[in-house]
Amino acid sequence: MNEKVLNETALAMVAAGKGILAADESTGTIQKRFESIKVENTEPHRQAYRDMLFTTPGFEQYTSGVILFEETLFQKGLDGTPFAKLLADKGVLPGIKVDKGAKDLPGAPGETITEGLDGLRERLVKYREAGARFAKWRAVITIGNGIPSDYCIHTNAHALARYAAYCQEAGIVPIVEPEVLMDADNSIAVCEDVTNRTLAAVFQELDKQKVLLEGMILKPNMVIAGKKCAVQADRNAVAVATLRTLKRHVPGAVPGIAFLSGGQSDVDATAHLDIMNKLGPNPWKLTFSYGRALQAAALKAWGGQNVDAGKKAHLHRAHMNGLAALGKWDA
Ligand code: 13P
Repeated sequence: MNEKVLNETALAMVAAGKGILAADESTGTIQKRFESIKVENTEPHRQAYRDMLFTTPGFEQYTSGVILFEETLFQKGLDGTPFAKLLADKGVLPGIKVDKGAKDLPGAPGETITEGLDGLRERLVKYREAGARFAKWRAVITIGNGIPSDYCIHTNAHALARYAAYCQEAGIVPIVEPEVLMDADNSIAVCEDVTNRTLAAVFQELDKQKVLLEGMILKPNMVIAGKKCAVQADRNAVAVATLRTLKRHVPGAVPGIAFLSGGQSDVDATAHLDIMNKLGPNPWKLTFSYGRALQAAALKAWGGQNVDAGKKAHLHRAHMNGLAALGKWDA
């Protein structure tokens, strides 16, 4: 394992004022996004959409890396340049989603286990050759009646650590993403409790499986009330609870934490990150690795044809989140 390369890559992923664009929607997920703008989910349309995002002039000022779906890593942009090269030429690190999705966890109704470990070692070699410098694996923890179970948290933590160890062996920085969903009607206190349990298990497994903390990035949810909860915490409360939870579990050896947006509004996702950075100094860099909160406006403005409007909307959100990563965003 080349510890120096892993650490340097991880530090570059959380460079000051920059974050990660999560553009790794699976073919099924991008289908849902395209349905919202009435665009057919074909390979040429996926290529055109991602080309719009990745050729946005200036987005590299705020973007350290892009997470790609496997199809995109091996795809070319509209001018014939492979997407991985197009990004690398702008100083943006190409990354790759390597999990195979969350599947039903046996004997645990309503809970999932993320699959994709079989053959991963071999796939990582191919991905690195194609230009990937980091990877992502998402575990999904669902809040509900009597769940999450410790069984679900531990099996997912174990798989995350196995994935991370394989990545580091291949010289690829793992983004470790244990996502506690914000879709239910739970209070922020319940989210804090579940996030505490989840992060405790994840860091215990990372330690047991000898994952180099200096060579990884954590991608957690923020601590926030479920979308269906009648009582929503204010932005400051979300920032304070998220920082409290992270400080209890994430060693300072981890170079950075890059949040998912999870269904927050675009502006909430920016504001929460900004407040957390204003409350610093913190032991790690805090930045974004947003999917929806970076792309929703761009997707709508693009609408299948309006490339310039899509780029403008993308650049604006990237810029606002870049400011938030510095604690310099102004509402
Ligand atoms: P959202 O920011 O839309 O939650 O997506 C981030 C991501 O990569 C989820 O795995």
